[in-house]
Amino acid sequence: MSNKTILVTGGAGYIVSHTSVALIEAGYDVVIADDLSNSSAGAVDGVRRITGTDVPFERVDCNDRAALRELFERYRFDGAIHFAAFKAVGESVDEPLKYYDNNVGSFLSLLETMRLFGVRNVVFSSSATVYGQPDVLPATEASPRKPANSPYGATKQICEDILRDAVAAYNSAGGPEEEGLRGIALRYFNPIGAHPSALIGELPRGVPNNLIPYITQTAAGIRAELSVFGDDYHTPDGTALRDYIDINDLALAHVTAIGRMLNDRQRQNYEVFNIGTGVPVSVLELVHGFERANGVKVPYKIVARRPGDAEAVWADTTLAATELGWRATRTLEQTLRSSWRWEQQLKK
Ligand code: WQD
Repeated sequence: MSNKTILVTGGAGYIVSHTSVALIEAGYDVVIADDLSNSSAGAVDGVRRITGTDVPFERVDCNDRAALRELFERYRFDGAIHFAAFKAVGESVDEPLKYYDNNVGSFLSLLETMRLFGVRNVVFSSSATVYGQPDVLPATEASPRKPANSPYGATKQICEDILRDAVAAYNSAGGPEEEGLRGIALRYFNPIGAHPSALIGELPRGVPNNLIPYITQTAAGIRAELSVFGDDYHTPDGTALRDYIDINDLALAHVTAIGRMLNDRQRQNYEVFNIGTGVPVSVLELVHGFERANGVKVPYKIVARRPGDAEAVWADTTLAATELGWRATRTLEQTLRSSWRWEQQLKK
């Protein structure tokens, strides 16, 4: 029996490259599609080197319906994992139309094309940003989604609703089973780290928005010092708390989710799972943890809070563990070491 084939969109990005590796190592055939607007083909080379497979890369804008149709005519997909989206929170405030057009438009195009070709299974890359600042912590999948504090966050909420409604519509019609649609939304908390080989990792363009790449670039001397955005939060050390999830653990969550659908193990045709560790870590704990794990110094200064930042967000991981059958396994020290190895090889 031939391997199942999975389309991963946005495939030259950080999370997709790691997910592609995990899918291939789990025995899937993978096709990577990306327009390279926010990533580099270097990640595809990394996937090929790590897996020893010549994984097909297709330069496709998922917002281009004709191009997607042509792609679906050339491959027989058993499922898709949709990552293609812009993800800079600040930029989305300045360029909302660009974010709604790309993030929502590309998902609509993908779902319409999947329906046209009878491809039933899709995993959607969502984010804990849909919770905003939860009133009760840890956040469960039933925690209310707060009004998004950026167009980026709004696109994640909108795409979750699109998937929920499409699944409901295309299964209740009583049509033949093969025309149904099934979906899983994975709400990532804060993805960090890199593949142990250091052949793929996070490659921010310009000044990093996210904490870990800023830390690694500071340790590498690329940045003079890290600005810690606020130490006056109501947290143990005053700095904000997040749930930092190792990218390799996150990648495996996608393998588990797609396998759940392909093996008919879903309880409902649309499901949502938090993908986190369940352990809150503060900014300063991460800085000092990075220094200890790697024997380096990270100069920093405390500055004002960043507008829009939540004080504390971390996951209730019960549903992912008991229902999805997935949990994070890597230690924070392992993850922080992988981030540093990746940064160091970038300088070569
Ligand atoms: C983490 C903590 C900052 C940089 C965002 C998106 C989320 C996902 C991950 C895409 C916060 C502090 C940061 C710095 C700092 N993106 N920080 N100095 O904001 O939790 O989540 O990125 O999927 O959807 O919302 O991540 O890494 O930017 O910040 O003090 O130079 O580090 O204030 O407390 P965030 P982050």
